[in-house]
Amino acid sequence: MEQKRGKFSGKIGFIFAAAGSAVGLGNIWRFPYLAAKYGGGIFLLVYLILVVTFGFALMVAEVAIGRKTQLSAVGAFGKLNQKFSFLGYLASVVPMIIFPYYCVIGGWVVKYLSVYVSGQGLAAAQDGFFEGFIGKPVEPILFLAVYVGITALIVFLGVQNGVEKASKIMMPVLAVLALGVAVYSVTRPGALDGVKYYLIPDFSRFSPMTVLAAMGQLFYSMSLAMGIMVTYGSYMKKEDDLEKSVKQIELFDTGMAFVAGMMIVPAVFAFSGGDEAALNKGAGLMFVTLPKVFADAGTLGLIFGGVFFVLVLFAALTSSVSLMETVVSIFQDKFHWSRKFTCTLVMVGCLLLALPSSLGYGLLSWIAPLGFSLLDFFDFISNSVLMPIVAFLTCIFVGYIVKTKAVEDEVKLSSPFKREKLFTVVIKYLAPVCIVLILVTSVLDALG
Ligand code: PHE
Repeated sequence: MEQKRGKFSGKIGFIFAAAGSAVGLGNIWRFPYLAAKYGGGIFLLVYLILVVTFGFALMVAEVAIGRKTQLSAVGAFGKLNQKFSFLGYLASVVPMIIFPYYCVIGGWVVKYLSVYVSGQGLAAAQDGFFEGFIGKPVEPILFLAVYVGITALIVFLGVQNGVEKASKIMMPVLAVLALGVAVYSVTRPGALDGVKYYLIPDFSRFSPMTVLAAMGQLFYSMSLAMGIMVTYGSYMKKEDDLEKSVKQIELFDTGMAFVAGMMIVPAVFAFSGGDEAALNKGAGLMFVTLPKVFADAGTLGLIFGGVFFVLVLFAALTSSVSLMETVVSIFQDKFHWSRKFTCTLVMVGCLLLALPSSLGYGLLSWIAPLGFSLLDFFDFISNSVLMPIVAFLTCIFVGYIVKTKAVEDEVKLSSPFKREKLFTVVIKYLAPVCIVLILVTSVLDALG
């Protein structure tokens, strides 16, 4: 059964695979719009604190559980304690919710790429272009289908056939390019207010919702609380330095998110003065703001835009491949279906489940659970409800059932565990208490 899952070569392989899963639309599309919406600097600050505490502890725990049991999530929790196999199943529900709507956004990226390649980058910078596109019934679904098709093809052919190698080149290039766009953005007239908004915390904007949003983003961005890192941990060699690898992935992931925020938030101020409505654009922010930045830079900017969307597409694909791979391996492990059949089934299932999210901005816009568009609603359920619950249970599991020592011993197989104290305190006390507090206050908030 093990062989059917994609394997990665060596330590660099693990880091790149995990970083490939982590760095994606979460960093480039999701992080900037949340930062813009939830008060800029205060969101960034809360996020960074969570990265070095919750993020670190949870990622170490998940990778260690995977490496210890040599199993993916569904089997891993159950192997350590029979009563907790349900946690593996619960964690598996998350990628099944995320994967379809992730592909909807992936489809938008393909659309923008095609717009730039066909030389229509200027049109994309017009007000209303994005809304016009996502409001249509058919076109976004076609792009969605293209995106799902590419993802399925990669998963079917296997991760080692090129994707691993390609991501070693593409990801650093994306980082450099994003940095270039960020420098261009912050030097636009009027952007300085945006830089201040993004970097200087305004404590009056703090609310439990800020923490919940930051926490959901943390799980999402680092591909935590859904079993993915458990699976990747099972591919890691015993002699690899687990703690160091986790830190490297965190650094790269957070660095990318930070830079993406720098390229988008100041640009919102430069091009629309930073009024609340512009900052509150939500899911569309990247698609509305970036085209304005590219158009502002003239012909060169439009060419740049094309290259940029190729790289974003690539980052998105490595993430959606990890999402689909997880879903496929869950079904394969459970039902022992062939890989071809399972891939086809998951692909078709994904397309069907993605339809409501895609149509939620047009035909189905009258359905607005809790005031969310359908896509935002699925995003909310997975990131702000299910993932905190899975994270909470993982903490309880590691802290009190198998005990932190089991994980610590696994980490120490290769090298001393430098942040052991921090790890123990976060897993046993800090994370569980905070997650419950935040979850309860924000659910009350959302309902009230
Ligand atoms: N972490 C990915 C991103 O930032 C998204 C993702 C979430 C991938 C969950 C896999 C699992 O885009």
